[in-house]
Amino acid sequence: MCGIVGYVGPRQAPAIILQGLKRLEYRGYDSAGIAALEENGRFAIRRDAGKLSNLETLLQSSPLEGHAGIGHTRWATHGKPNQRNAHPHLSMNGRVVIVHNGIVENFLELREELEAEGVTFASDTDTEVIVQMVERYIESGLEMETAVRQTLKQLRGANAVVIMGLDRPNELFCARLGNAGGIALGLGDNEMFLASDIPAILEHTRRMIFLENRQMAHLTPTSYRIMDLDGQTIPPDIHTIAWDPVSAAKGEFKHFMQKEIFEQPRSIVDTLRGRVDFENGRVHLPEMNLTPELAQRINKLYITACGTSFYSGLAGKFMIENLARIPTEVTYASEFRYYDPIIDEDTAVLAITQSGETADTLAASEQAKAEGATLWSIVNAFGSQSMRISHGYIPMQAGPEIGVASTKAFTTSLVDQYLLACALSDLRGTISRRKLRQLVDDLAQLPDLAGRVLDHDAEYEELANQFFKVHNFLYLGRGINYPIAREGALKLKEISYIHAEGYPAGEMKHGPIALIDETMPVIAIATKDHLYEKMISQIQQAKARGGTVIAVATEGDAAIANEADHVIYVPEAPPLLAPIINVIPLQLFSYHVAVRRGADVDQPRNLAKSVTVE
Ligand code: M6R
Repeated sequence: MCGIVGYVGPRQAPAIILQGLKRLEYRGYDSAGIAALEENGRFAIRRDAGKLSNLETLLQSSPLEGHAGIGHTRWATHGKPNQRNAHPHLSMNGRVVIVHNGIVENFLELREELEAEGVTFASDTDTEVIVQMVERYIESGLEMETAVRQTLKQLRGANAVVIMGLDRPNELFCARLGNAGGIALGLGDNEMFLASDIPAILEHTRRMIFLENRQMAHLTPTSYRIMDLDGQTIPPDIHTIAWDPVSAAKGEFKHFMQKEIFEQPRSIVDTLRGRVDFENGRVHLPEMNLTPELAQRINKLYITACGTSFYSGLAGKFMIENLARIPTEVTYASEFRYYDPIIDEDTAVLAITQSGETADTLAASEQAKAEGATLWSIVNAFGSQSMRISHGYIPMQAGPEIGVASTKAFTTSLVDQYLLACALSDLRGTISRRKLRQLVDDLAQLPDLAGRVLDHDAEYEELANQFFKVHNFLYLGRGINYPIAREGALKLKEISYIHAEGYPAGEMKHGPIALIDETMPVIAIATKDHLYEKMISQIQQAKARGGTVIAVATEGDAAIANEADHVIYVPEAPPLLAPIINVIPLQLFSYHVAVRRGADVDQPRNLAKSVTVE
């Protein structure tokens, strides 16, 4: 959840770290801080509660200098989000400093032991036990690296840490224990970087190493060493990142979310590129490692994910069952472990995750793998844990998604599931060659259709101007558009704090219809498909109870204007691709409502982009 950045080299570390933290603020914005080793050979720390802008102001009045440093943006778990609990944390005698992401599960026990030895604590965080332990070990005569390793071995829980010590000036130690979020090491020329996520350091280098579980690294300006917790050197696996730094910046847009919504035609093109053979009507997913034998053997699929990725899976189920004819169950990753899913070697589990580091999704994936399932994933963050533990994966190609509200990762993951459904049905022989060719041909128009929806942004803004003061919304859809109703409702609640429910329209009469009155607008997804007539009847029921209805309808459907109060027209799309188009106006509507309400669109309250705690 928290964001970490580190630098060691000839340049001024604080400036580089602050810049990196700006790219990571989506991970947490309860407080922020930077520590640097100053010329006088001591650590200096600047930190403040609240957003990064507070730290930036502090640094202007009280600048920090040094060629090695670490920084942090916090999403609070232990201890209030105040200045005292902000990272970095310094050890009692000032010899060691740390930033940390995760939860030290045994921190109470460790803290009691340290207090009994006379250590005094300066914060309420679990983090502080780590830095105090390292210092205690150093003072008992251990060399810095050994002290770090000894400490790490005693921690329980998922944790990522970066540590600096006066005994080894201008060097950084970092480690990853479990699924508390990754650490990417950036290899520069005579300088080294590290960060919890690629965009923070992408402008400096594209050569990166990703730490695996229970690995640590030692960085100096000119060298790096990856090792296990016993100090055994591990050969590095260096990746070259294809993302460009520009795509991780806001550019001319007011918010990352807005930019990312508008990037969708491009991210769809990137998702299709190299995978769809339009000439021969085939789909190639090389990283999935699919074989005809495997595709035919799989007789059950679980899709597991959280939040928006879960809703993507709900829509993907339609694609996979419809085309590949594999019975598919979609489960919340946070529940997967607790209901004893029935898994054997003919089961596949597909994890969908933008970040590739959501703790619940990783836990579900690991369990599925341990029980013998074939583990697949659809992941955006390159090199993330989810990608690395999977037997096969589809890299999303959405590019960096910074806005906490997920948008382009949702639509690209839908395209990926469509591609997977095509590839599986081809290998399983569940559809004809002709049908496959048609499905592939349909993809060609998708980027253009998405672009045409975006052209109507001013209309969605106008609608938002009319509805931004409303307290409750009901979103309805049927079939493959039911997940879109849920995703539309989630987008509205997470960024505008308006209560919204997404419901399968046919269920309305079993309860939610009681909510409808003139204060409860209904957004009904009623594009032309085999459920259109049924959606019209649902709209009529809502109208009969005094509800105001906004319909998402197919261009050319003049009749629906007689049923609904407002109509958002979208271009006609093939049925399995329609959700990708239908969700875009809902994203923009939520965006404009949130802007009108003065909400912080990219950093909504209480949320973080990557949820690396259970
Ligand atoms: O990175 P992931 O896709 O695993 O994240 C899952 C959810 O935390 C995420 O989709 C969350 O619901 C977003 N804030 C939705 O906009």
